[in-house]
Amino acid sequence: MKIIVSQTHEDSCKKAAVMFRELLREKPTAKLGLATGGTPLPLYAELARMNKAGEVDFSRACSVNLDEYCGLAPTHDQSYRYFMDTNLFNHINIDKSHTFVASGTKPPEEAAAELEEKVYEGGAPDLQLLGIGANGHIAFNEPATALVAESHPAPLTESTIDANARFFATRADVPSLSVTMGMKGILSAAKIIMLAEGKGKKEAIEGLVKGGSITTQNPSTFLKLHRDVTVFIDKELADAVGVK
Ligand code: F6R
Repeated sequence: MKIIVSQTHEDSCKKAAVMFRELLREKPTAKLGLATGGTPLPLYAELARMNKAGEVDFSRACSVNLDEYCGLAPTHDQSYRYFMDTNLFNHINIDKSHTFVASGTKPPEEAAAELEEKVYEGGAPDLQLLGIGANGHIAFNEPATALVAESHPAPLTESTIDANARFFATRADVPSLSVTMGMKGILSAAKIIMLAEGKGKKEAIEGLVKGGSITTQNPSTFLKLHRDVTVFIDKELADAVGVK
């Protein structure tokens, strides 16, 4: 696992954007595994800038997203489809019909089965982007006594509902169920980029970057089973964790 410490999160995102650019130059038809949340926003802004500047071309690329809230239509401003359109897809030259975000309105089992198919359609993602929950979740694979390999409907933990309430009018508006890629889909990507910012992610990142143990109580630790993971963290988080 490569750990790259940057002065600021914006710097981390610029470096991560270069990895996307290099991949797309090498393989214009690359399949991108994408994430939502606050963390990737500066990365998406940088990819949009690069695309406008002619530095990266998404016209032949495709994508699959990690997860979606159950119960939110794609037009809902907190749905992950809406997030991806407004924060990335509307600003780059990707063909939207080649982007996939799981359905938030189909029956959850059906939406999960569809997502599972899309993860592997034409091959697993060449590059999977991940954020991390303060509790160590990746996608919506929450800490538990057992994790799930395939895409599945997943309840959000109370702490994740608390964390995501900042995006909704009230806490009660945060959906309690999601459809998420499972651990196998995430680990199937050829390359994985993890972005994390701020000391709020200290415990989660500590579990990931320190020591060799893997635990279902911190799902991110399963990334230790993958041979090509790059973790980008800002200095504040690096100092909190004690990595240089
Ligand atoms: C989002 C996702 C989540 C987030 C995580 C961190 O698609 O899969 O696992 O990456 O909850 O969220 P932020 O970036 O808002 O701290």
